[in-house]
Amino acid sequence: MARLKQEYEADGFFGIGVFHSSDEENIGTLWRSAYILGASFIFTIDRKYRKQSSDVTKAWSRIPLYHYDDFDEFKSSIPYAASIVAVEMTDTAEPLETFEHPPRAVYLLGNEASGLPPAVLEECHKTIVLPGAYSLNVAVAGSLVIYDRGTKIRSTLPRRP
Ligand SMILES: C[S@@+](CC[C@H](N)C(=O)[O-])C[C@H]1O[C@@H](n2cnc3c(N)ncnc32)[C@H](O)[C@@H]1O
Repeated sequence: MARLKQEYEADGFFGIGVFHSSDEENIGTLWRSAYILGASFIFTIDRKYRKQSSDVTKAWSRIPLYHYDDFDEFKSSIPYAASIVAVEMTDTAEPLETFEHPPRAVYLLGNEASGLPPAVLEECHKTIVLPGAYSLNVAVAGSLVIYDRGTKIRSTLPRRP
C-alpha cells in the first residue's frame, strides 16, 4: 500500500500556563502572546482566570483555556507524550539560549510573588531559565520562551498572511 506523503506545517505543539497567578492583568498579556505566537492551549492552575482587557485577542475564545484545581490534576491531564517545562530561576535550570524545546511541550510559569514551589519543580520534566540577575514579569518571561521556541522549531512561529 502506498504511503501518504504529507508535509506538516509545524513539528508538535505547545501549551502555556501559570501556577497560582496573583495578577490577572499579567495573565491577559500572556494569553495574548500565547495566541499570537501559536499556542495550542493555555491554562491556569489553582486560580481561575477572569476576563482581562489586556487580552485584546480574547485568546480564550480562540484556543482552549483549561483550569486545573491543583498541580496533580494538571499533570494527569497533559497531552500524551508531552513534556512539562518549568520556567523558573533555579540553580540547576537549563539556560534558554541553549535549550532544545521538546516538540510537544507544556510551559509552566510561577506566581508573581513566590515563583514555582520546589514540590512542583520536582515534578516537571525540565526547567529553563532566562538570562538576567533579576526576575522578569511573568508574561514577559512566558512570551520570550515561546518566541524562542518559534525561532528554533520549524514553522511554529506563525507568519503574517
Ligand atoms: C516575577 S517572577 C517570580 C519572582 C519571585 N519573586 C521569585 O523569586 O521566585 C514570576 C514568574 O516569572 C517567571 N520568570 C521570571 N523571570 C524569570 C527568569 N529570569 N527565568 C525563568 N523564569 C522567570 C517564572 O515562572 C516566575 O515564577
